[in-house]
Amino acid sequence: MPSASFQIGLATPDEVLAVSQVLQEAARWITTWRAPLWDPDLLGEAFARPIIERGHMLTAKVGGEIAAVMILEPEDPVFWPDYPAGEAAYIHKLAVRRAYAGMGAPAALVDHAATLALLQGRWRLRLDCDVPLAGFYEKLGFRKVDEIDVRHPEAGPMRVVRMERHLAAQPA
Ligand SMILES: CC(C)(COP(=O)(O)OP(=O)(O)OC[C@H]1O[C@@H](n2cnc3c(N)ncnc32)[C@H](O)[C@@H]1OP(=O)(O)O)[C@@H](O)C(=O)NCCC(=O)NCCS
Repeated sequence: MPSASFQIGLATPDEVLAVSQVLQEAARWITTWRAPLWDPDLLGEAFARPIIERGHMLTAKVGGEIAAVMILEPEDPVFWPDYPAGEAAYIHKLAVRRAYAGMGAPAALVDHAATLALLQGRWRLRLDCDVPLAGFYEKLGFRKVDEIDVRHPEAGPMRVVRMERHLAAQPA
């Protein structure tokens, strides 16, 4: 598998369009071979801007070009309402541009997120994903917590696998 060296950082306000294009490309690509995962129309600049302004959008770049993006949020009351706040940082919307697929961008983004989460005093990284992607995240150091049915405010009812990666022991 080819690999690339990715520079990981926070997206800046002048990258709102570029970030939304990466998300929309991933959403459209998915529909070429399986049921839709995300609605591209809901991933435009209006979606990306507030997340970037909060400093919660990570990018993986190669030669200055955004190859992949990922959201890292300090809370997730939609998918993890039954877990105490302050334990974990939460990953969403990992998306890799097709030109950079299979080159290790997810591992670079997730490892950087782990470092940020530890700096923020969190000891777990958590995410929810489509059932077929659980094996992919296991290779990135996550283990399955459970499988739940949720009603997403925008996406409606859905079944997801909840996964977490241990970063440090839970403080006493
Ligand atoms: C998932 C993703 C980030 C992985 O990127 P990557 O590590 O660079 O590797 P690839 O894009 O080659 O994907 C790895 C494998 O996962 C599969 N895959 C990707 N998205 C998938 C999805 N949503 N559901 C099931 N399988 C998926 C790919 O087809 C590929 O399978 P293969 O190894 O048999 O060819 C990237 O494929 C992507 O952006 N997918 C669309 C958005 C997405 O599904 N994000 C995750 C949401 S939880």
